[in-house]
Amino acid sequence: MGNLMYQPNQNEVALFKQAAEQRLPVMLTGPTGCGKTRLIEYMGEVLQREVVTISCHDDLTSADLVGRFMVTGGDVVWTDGPLTRAVKDGAICYLDEVVEARHDSLAVLHSLTDHRRTLYLDRAAETVTAPDRFMLVCSYNPAYRSSLKELKPSFRQRFVTVAMNFLDPEREARVLMSEANIDDKVASRLVQCATSIRNADAVFHFEPPSTRALVSAAKMIAVGASEMEAAEVCILAPLTNEGAVADGLREIAAACLL
Ligand SMILES: Nc1ncnc2c1ncn2[C@@H]1O[C@H](COP(=O)(O)OP(=O)(O)OP(=O)(O)O)[C@@H](O)[C@H]1O
Ligand SMILES: [Mg+2]
Repeated sequence: MGNLMYQPNQNEVALFKQAAEQRLPVMLTGPTGCGKTRLIEYMGEVLQREVVTISCHDDLTSADLVGRFMVTGGDVVWTDGPLTRAVKDGAICYLDEVVEARHDSLAVLHSLTDHRRTLYLDRAAETVTAPDRFMLVCSYNPAYRSSLKELKPSFRQRFVTVAMNFLDPEREARVLMSEANIDDKVASRLVQCATSIRNADAVFHFEPPSTRALVSAAKMIAVGASEMEAAEVCILAPLTNEGAVADGLREIAAACLL
């Protein structure tokens, strides 16, 4: 096994393993920087499977996923896309921010995510049935969901869906200590700062401060930044441009940090 650290939150590691054992696709939801990508990388190590990541966006076509004919030196040859390669190799295919993709691009996943576990490459006149080791995992942040960007129920209901959230304070502090070289007192203060901001009313204006932002602040402190400086540049400034809100957040931070 590799050496990537993952701090479990609830039962997500066991659920992921059980879904993998039953060859079911998994959907992870949760706010930015809460550990979705880290969990998938960790599970790749635990299950000893390669992780093929595809970042979804609204120009993504089904050909970008499954492949296309390409001209190479006068010959026209079929070239597998990353999804097809992951299926053939028995890898974990990870579609990040899957809500960003258009419905018609995702339609190709339907036969792959039910009992058929099969990819129909119509244009290549090829059918690829997934080996047992193949697993499809998607993630998205529900906070960005708008009526325009909604996954179809027929898509959502194919997945074992694990709703992730931030770790409790003690575990989040442990992550900071292992990701950056800071002591437990500093880690607890940073987590306290984030928790206070997450609980503040102003938080309705923006995404709550992420574990990722806290890790960055911890790394800045580890090489000499003061706690307030690190909070300013890694936690507060990325949250909001609104002066009055920023002032309120700075007061919250100052009450928690040295
Ligand atoms: N449970 C955890 N165990 C270990 N590290 C964690 C955990 N949660 C968050 N982290 C730390 O926070 C960082 C950000 O987490 P990650 O990249 O997994 O977020 P994400 O949920 O994928 O966010 P996004 O939606 O923005 O892609 C990680 O690189 C890691 O340092
Ligand atoms: Mg991610």
